[in-house]
Amino acid sequence: MTKAMLNVENIRNDFPILKRQVNGKPLVYLDNAATSQTPKQVMDAIVDYYSHYNANIHRGVHTLSQEATDIYEQARVKIQKHFNAAKVHEIIFTSGTTHGINLVANGFSSLIKKGDEVLVSAMEHHSNIVPWQMLCERTGAVLKVIPMNQEGELLMDAYSDMLTERTKLVFCNHISNALGTINPIAEIIEKAHKVGAAVLIDGAQAAPHLVADVQALDVDFYVVSAHKLCGPTGIGALYGKEAWLNKLPPYQGGGEMIAEVTFEKTTYADLPHKFEAGTPNICGGIAFGAALDYLQKIGFGNIAAYENELLTYATAELLKIQGLKIYGTASEKTSVISFNIEGIHPYDIGTILDKMGIAVRTGHHCAQPIMDFYRIPGTVRASFAFYNTMAEVDALVQGVQKAKDMLL
Ligand code: ALA
Repeated sequence: MTKAMLNVENIRNDFPILKRQVNGKPLVYLDNAATSQTPKQVMDAIVDYYSHYNANIHRGVHTLSQEATDIYEQARVKIQKHFNAAKVHEIIFTSGTTHGINLVANGFSSLIKKGDEVLVSAMEHHSNIVPWQMLCERTGAVLKVIPMNQEGELLMDAYSDMLTERTKLVFCNHISNALGTINPIAEIIEKAHKVGAAVLIDGAQAAPHLVADVQALDVDFYVVSAHKLCGPTGIGALYGKEAWLNKLPPYQGGGEMIAEVTFEKTTYADLPHKFEAGTPNICGGIAFGAALDYLQKIGFGNIAAYENELLTYATAELLKIQGLKIYGTASEKTSVISFNIEGIHPYDIGTILDKMGIAVRTGHHCAQPIMDFYRIPGTVRASFAFYNTMAEVDALVQGVQKAKDMLL
């Protein structure tokens, strides 16, 4: 990995929230896997939209509507270019990753039949489990789980053995939100395609750390949320190969997604609008584009290199605390550290850290099967972004040690 070329102090000036105090202490924000913070540049895009060209899109002949339409559609092009999608209409705006997955799972109801098999990895977020269980309930298809080892790595030989001509779909996250594992998705996709199965990759946790090239990966569906990558909540994108998106039926009916409506019959709009019923999150889409501009300027290579330095340092320092165990020790890992201290409930550590101004997530992280696998109720999770500092890692380590001393 190359050395990081980041001026973190300058970058932190872009994030007003990082200057606030929590419980009388400077905020140390280490819950980036749940949601990232928002730079001024993205806030400016939001204010600019509401100050100058707030209007509904694809509808009006008036100037405001045309301006809003143009800038919203430019954001779609930015997303297309970022993920290297072949066609702009392969990018569907959604409310987030969960919406994207449900859209695809719902669409497959008519393409899957009883006895077909769908494979899901053992380290999925609930959003990449429950919609597929619902699909199986509707169709009689069978859900099978690709197992993982104690390090939190998928067992690829077991995966190969599970693939048969009955396998129709494979779902896997690019990066695990609870463990930080970077999954070998290129191999997962290639193997699935050999038996004719389609693959959906949940890119929610990967998008802030690395750039997925959907054409190079040959992935069928890739889903992301803007709020994980410095954009607002309530907006995300689904990439789908054109052929698949044409095959899937619309998810919701309404305005915007139609070509023609009569009481006898309705015909649907072409991609991408077929999947975008109703007035969309216009400002959110525009802000998503602004967030990509911001991150691209910093450079994803720089971000990955610096976050790797944070991960290496934080891992080494946390492991100096006696009784601390890290869950998720894959060789390919991003800047997420899930841990527990023997004899202490994660919630108690999280609560004490909050008193010190340190924000971490505690609990099962919407990934209960992972917690069941390790036979634990949950973990404390510290997740780092490019605007975190080594001093903040030190604050976390001191805070955890203090919490341990108070609780044991
Ligand atoms: N999926 C988000 C997380 O991991 C909310 O915290």
